[in-house]
Amino acid sequence: MATEARVAVEGIGLRKVYGLDTPFPVEVLQGVDVRVTAGEFVAIVGQSGSGKTTLLNLLGALDRPTAGRVILDGRDTAELGDDDLADLRNRAVGFVFQFHYLLPEFTCLENALMPLKIRQGAASREDVERVTALLARVGLGDQLRKRPSQMSGGQQQRAAVIRALAAQPRLVLADEPTGNLDVRAGQEVFDMMREMTRETGVAFVMVTHDEQLADAADRIIHVELGRVHEHEHILKGEG
Ligand SMILES: Nc1ncnc2c1ncn2[C@@H]1O[C@H](COP(=O)(O)OP(=O)(O)OP(=O)(O)O)[C@@H](O)[C@H]1O
Ligand SMILES: [Mg+2]
Repeated sequence: MATEARVAVEGIGLRKVYGLDTPFPVEVLQGVDVRVTAGEFVAIVGQSGSGKTTLLNLLGALDRPTAGRVILDGRDTAELGDDDLADLRNRAVGFVFQFHYLLPEFTCLENALMPLKIRQGAASREDVERVTALLARVGLGDQLRKRPSQMSGGQQQRAAVIRALAAQPRLVLADEPTGNLDVRAGQEVFDMMREMTRETGVAFVMVTHDEQLADAADRIIHVELGRVHEHEHILKGEG
């Protein structure tokens, strides 16, 4: 029997209350359990304001839960001070947002290498070769020297996804990564995220409002009224 798949991130009994120091605290998450393993592509869906971004921020250690635990890359984040938590986050997590946030004065390749420069001061020759190959793999081989303003929205977002993968994280968290793109460019970005998940074995969690894209994930997590429910696809790959 196969050994249990490696857990990239696990949230246990996650509660999040905003405004605890105000007269009207809001409990957004009321005890949520989530586990994502290496190589999995998970979609998070739910109404606006249901707590999807809140959940993503907890899983990625951008924020701490009011109660409950986050185990990220095998480390209990509650046991880490803020500096160690930031180190863990930089090492283990890549982020993609609705807007690409590429830096306008740097090229596509320089942007994609940015996490490595930030983490280790400079990108090694191997890093440059690896990231260049990833960019080529997603159709950006002829865009390497361009600035973001010279690229299409879909190309910019594909570069942002490769930037999230550049430092070889265990987990990529994407908050509505196709939300700013037209249907076709969104589908292309989605397809490349799926392929990169398969090829790199990263765990990928994507928040989306697009039901069709969510249906093509391995698993869907619904956030509703402070809780989550899941279903796995029974007919995956069919139809
Ligand atoms: N820093 C904060 N302080 C107070 N309330 C917050 C904070 N961040 C989020 N909230 C509230 O928590 C709830 C959940 O917000 P969240 O951003 O997680 O929703 P979401 O599901 O991502 O919504 P959307 O689909 O619109 O992005 C909302 O009611 C929001 O107003
Ligand atoms: Mg959100």
